[in-house]
Amino acid sequence: MANPKLLILAGDGIGPEVMGQVTRIIDWFGDKRDLAFDVEHDLVGGAAYDKHGTPLHDDTMAKALAADAVLLGAVGGPKYDELDFSVKPERGLLRLRKEMDLYSNLRPAQCFDALADFSSLKKDVIAGLDIMIVRELTSGVYFGEPRGIFEEGNERVGINTQRYTESEIERVARSAFELARRRNKKVCSMEKANVMESGILWREVVQRVHDTDYPEVELSHMYADNGAMQLVRAPKQFDVILTDNLFGDILSDCAAMLTGSLGMLPSASLGAPNEAGRPKALYEPVHGSAPDIAGQGKANPIACILSFAMALRYSFDQGDEATRLETAVEKVLADGARTADLMGEEGGSPISTSEMGDAILAALDASL
Ligand code: NAD
Ligand code: IPM
Ligand code: MN
Repeated sequence: MANPKLLILAGDGIGPEVMGQVTRIIDWFGDKRDLAFDVEHDLVGGAAYDKHGTPLHDDTMAKALAADAVLLGAVGGPKYDELDFSVKPERGLLRLRKEMDLYSNLRPAQCFDALADFSSLKKDVIAGLDIMIVRELTSGVYFGEPRGIFEEGNERVGINTQRYTESEIERVARSAFELARRRNKKVCSMEKANVMESGILWREVVQRVHDTDYPEVELSHMYADNGAMQLVRAPKQFDVILTDNLFGDILSDCAAMLTGSLGMLPSASLGAPNEAGRPKALYEPVHGSAPDIAGQGKANPIACILSFAMALRYSFDQGDEATRLETAVEKVLADGARTADLMGEEGGSPISTSEMGDAILAALDASL
């Protein structure tokens, strides 16, 4: 059988630096676990704009649609701040999400024991934390029409529209309930049904999907502002959090920091399963291109590496190998390996991006 096809879009800033460590790990699985991939590299974001004048070339879009999975680093950076909105690096990523129809964005936040002291919250609040945020990714205020900046009388008005259809809410709700079934069987859905009609519809549809098909899962509803507060106050009350595109963006950065660093949080963006049960899929760290540390070898590659572990699990039915990789990451953290973002106030000597890669490869070797 042909090897599965992986398209790697490293992107901008620290994207290529962290992805460099992921390609070493992909090679390791090919050499040591007989798990070879056909890997192709291409450009996205500012890097694609520099070469083609667009943040995502049509050929790249076609390759993404044909790949078994896409791995993405990060896009954006100050160099591109002045570009026209339509060609900004972030538009490339949003086009991928939309045209691949990746409506379900899984953002796990897990606290590794070795980092429990490092969180800005008290250790007992976050030790053992394991939550999964399911963020709707292809609709809502990110894509709703009308949108734009318009003249209105003698001033301008900026407009974006929050818009959800019942079927858009239903499919992402199903994805959250399916995940919850395999976890602790609890879903908390977050919106602002107190002030937004889209929130009222969201709540109604989620409740209906639950009552009809997932009665064994415990469902609760929470206003998203309270949800943000509860995430910081007592995050372990949650198992799966289901929320819309914009609230999910914000709540997942918040959840990332509970675990110690934004450099730790992976994500999977999944579409509907095909005939073989495989979803269209894109895997990427939650963090961005980190312009403040780009090019210095300081970036933590773990979020990107754990994103590849999610690819092994969700796209390639390699749950055991995903666990092998996650366990290797856990081990190097337990042994004290720390990139700069994982150093506390007391300081110490951080290791570089590639040294973190070396340590994880050594732990993988030791796992054989
Ligand atoms: P950011 O995530 O790039 O950085 C926020 C902070 O976290 C910075 O201090 C950065 O140094 C740190 N950080 C992030 N990832 C890290 C890692 N792996 N290791 C160590 N430290 C890390 O967010 P930002 O500064 O708001 O955005 C910068 C650019 O990235 C913007 O252009 C933004 O649009 C873009 N962005 C892209 C994505 C993506 O590609 N998915 C996500 C978020 C932001
Ligand atoms: C994320 C990012 C993106 C988003 C940007 C870069 C388009 O912040 O993936 O969390 O807002 O979805
Ligand atoms: Mn974000």
